[in-house]
Amino acid sequence: MAEFLSTAEAIAREAGALLREFYHRGVRTEYKGDVDLVTEADRASEALIGERLRAAFPNHGIYGEEGTREGLNGEFRWYVDPLDGTTNFAHGFPSFCVLLGCEHRAAGLAANEDGQMIAGVTYDPLRDEMFSAALGKGATLNGEPIHVSRTRSLDESLIATGFPSKKRHESPNVHFYQEFTLRSHGVRRAGSAALDLAFVASGRLEAFWEFNLNPWDTAAGILLVEEAGGRVGDFSGGPFQLNSKEVLVSNGLIHEELVVLFKDMFAGRDLSPIPTPQEFAQRRAERAATAG
Ligand code: IPD
Ligand code: CA
Ligand code: CA
Repeated sequence: MAEFLSTAEAIAREAGALLREFYHRGVRTEYKGDVDLVTEADRASEALIGERLRAAFPNHGIYGEEGTREGLNGEFRWYVDPLDGTTNFAHGFPSFCVLLGCEHRAAGLAANEDGQMIAGVTYDPLRDEMFSAALGKGATLNGEPIHVSRTRSLDESLIATGFPSKKRHESPNVHFYQEFTLRSHGVRRAGSAALDLAFVASGRLEAFWEFNLNPWDTAAGILLVEEAGGRVGDFSGGPFQLNSKEVLVSNGLIHEELVVLFKDMFAGRDLSPIPTPQEFAQRRAERAATAG
């Protein structure tokens, strides 16, 4: 496993250097969906990672965001997001990363069953930060052990979420964003789910949730969070699954509080009211009238 991790780190560093070059040079952007962007950097990074993984582990499978699907019946499978945070990258907003997560798939697993994540790396090439985890060996940032935060309540927490780039009108997440914003120190929406996960693992954030992520977004980060002492699951407090399309991770200490809030919100209970834009405009007009 140590070999898996050190190889993944070396590959992520190389892909990160490639992304950094593209970022400083500027890239052409194309659309995959209505606001779903892809750049030549995404493709070049996935091609490089594929080549390096194939050379190092010829029998391992690869499942990459930009279309690589190879050896998926094997015992080991690498989930690859060659550039997480493409929208940021394309706009020159400095928050993106590359990640690789290795899953061990025991013989006889059904195609829709998860194996065990055994190694994961998330590399931020602009900050030169390498987050790594191996099953049972803890999580590190640039070689130093990391741990989730010790904050015990949501109202003292800084948390994060993200929004989908496909079918945006079908996502209820803005309601959750609103409610969690009112109940915490704030909700960051920085545009890289993998960095959000790494930041929970390293105690910079207390929690992160998102609807509709894909296995390549989460595979490395959930191992990071678990190995850093945090908790991962779905919105109901159940176990996390790579294909479940919901992820909720935290430092563990605020997890129950988050799950209760999700339950209340799905049931339509206990929302903190804020004025509608129309109510706000009315009050503003009234204030202006009394002031004048
Ligand atoms: C996206 C980012 C973003 C999240 C989106 C993802 P991509 O990944 O992780 O933070 O909100 O749901 O699709 O497309 O930049 O690899
Ligand atoms: Ca992604
Ligand atoms: Ca991506």
